[in-house]
Amino acid sequence: MGDGLKVAVTRRIPSVGLRMLREEFEVVLHDSDKAPGRETLLRLMSDADGAVTLLSDAIDGALLDACPRLRIVANHAVGYENVDVEAATARGIVVTNTPGVLTDATADLTMALMLAAARRIVEADRFMRVGKYEGWDPRMLRGMDLAGRTLGIFGFGRIGRAVARRAAAFGMEIIYTDTAASPEAAQQCGARRVEFDELLRQSDVLTVHSPYLPELHQRFGAAEFAAMKPTALFLNTARGKLMDEAALAAALRARQIAAAGLDVYEDEPAFRPELAAMDNVVLLPHIGSATWGTRDAMAELAARNVIEVLHARPSLTPVNEVGKS
Ligand code: GLV
Repeated sequence: MGDGLKVAVTRRIPSVGLRMLREEFEVVLHDSDKAPGRETLLRLMSDADGAVTLLSDAIDGALLDACPRLRIVANHAVGYENVDVEAATARGIVVTNTPGVLTDATADLTMALMLAAARRIVEADRFMRVGKYEGWDPRMLRGMDLAGRTLGIFGFGRIGRAVARRAAAFGMEIIYTDTAASPEAAQQCGARRVEFDELLRQSDVLTVHSPYLPELHQRFGAAEFAAMKPTALFLNTARGKLMDEAALAAALRARQIAAAGLDVYEDEPAFRPELAAMDNVVLLPHIGSATWGTRDAMAELAARNVIEVLHARPSLTPVNEVGKS
């Protein structure tokens, strides 16, 4: 038992994670389904030894300065751009994320978006609900074939590769860009590494799977959408700030690209209102990892990271050096 140790949890997370933490520590929970404001975050974390945070919590140097006992920030997400890792490292605080456990769920959701955008599933569902179906029609609601088409993957990490494996089974050709080559993974699904401009020009479906880094801010903007095929689909289940959402909306309106499927937005939970009026975009509320099993696994991994660090053992999935020893 971690005597007297306190763990802040900044939102309701699956109960398996809370249970694990409560067995060992005093847990202070922001007992809500809404993100805490800055004041609440400060109040929760200021005397905590560990914290489980969500991607909507901005964990910066000033906040960390107000938390003198804090030893670990366990982000309940694979992405961690909400945490100033450098500031945490400078203060000797471990930062962890939840890689691996959400790879399949996110890849599955990407395929769902791909199929929905290619086959106009949401539009067809709306068509039914408003009573427009008057009988089988050979020209009705035609979409795009996937077999034989080229899937371009921006970011060939765990999730990008899991999407590649799925798309290969659909008969798609795979090309990718990444800072590193992954010859073995690429070989498994016949993927070919290309330059960014080839990715833009060749992809029939372009899907984004990179982490957000400042140098990748709005990597997909007006020029990139203009370089894509007018028949192309654009999918983003990674991070909204990797794209210029206004430019995407304009490209969709002008049919510079055919359709899009989005699970993430530049300024969540807000999104460009004009997207809501368009039939050629499928909009999801950031549910890439939202399966029962995956969300449990994320909560469990975050809790295990806190438990390890507060027992002075190495964390399981550190993103900074402090967490490795
Ligand atoms: C979700 O977006 C995550 O980073 O886990």
